Amino acid sequence: MKVFLLNASPKSCGATQEILLTMQGALPAQVESELVCLGDADIQYCLGCKKCYETGQCVRKDGMAELLGKLDAADAFFIAAPSYWADVPAQFKAFIDRCTPFSDTNPHPGHWTLGTGKRCYAIALRTGSSSGECQHIIDTIAHWCGHMGVEMAGSMYFCGIEGKRDIAPHKPAIHAQVKEWFC
Ligand SMILES: Cc1cc2nc3c(=O)[nH]c(=O)nc-3n(C[C@H](O)[C@H](O)[C@H](O)COP(=O)(O)O)c2cc1C
Repeated sequence: MKVFLLNASPKSCGATQEILLTMQGALPAQVESELVCLGDADIQYCLGCKKCYETGQCVRKDGMAELLGKLDAADAFFIAAPSYWADVPAQFKAFIDRCTPFSDTNPHPGHWTLGTGKRCYAIALRTGSSSGECQHIIDTIAHWCGHMGVEMAGSMYFCGIEGKRDIAPHKPAIHAQVKEWFC
């Protein structure tokens, strides 16, 4: 089994990365895993040209193909996003928009799709104390799953997180959750 972990934030040294590294460390030994931070990937904005409706392909050539290849090679994904202005970071929204050529909303017959049978675990975090903003982020990831043929298999959220150091007290709960998901 392969697990792909996507840090949907611009930075690979923060709390989002720390949560995913903790989750990666809690996976059973036989599971292969890879963690990528969107901030390190070259994902350009969707131009809104809808050429992909006619051709099934995007006119932009960047890191998107490599990233989708990694998703396609995995059986399960962890996607973690911090709240930026009560929503997902811009890098992640750009990634979602750029999935249009491969989603069930694309009318081009026979366009490329992710393989079947994949499942996704969504993780959200924020500095504020109420859970609604995190739920909105989880709903966004669930919406992406729905249009990409991926099963939304579970979620976890963290409030009151300013930075990486705030994750330490949550590590036992993170380990327990991953064990439950992968037992
Ligand atoms: C541009 C920006 C916007 C943010 N907006 C919110 C927000 O609307 N609500 C909130 O609770 N936290 C907000 N935060 C705080 C982040 O969600 C929080 O610091 C999180 O831990 C960042 O994850 P990171 O350490 O992986 O970057 C914002 C942070 C940044 C940089």
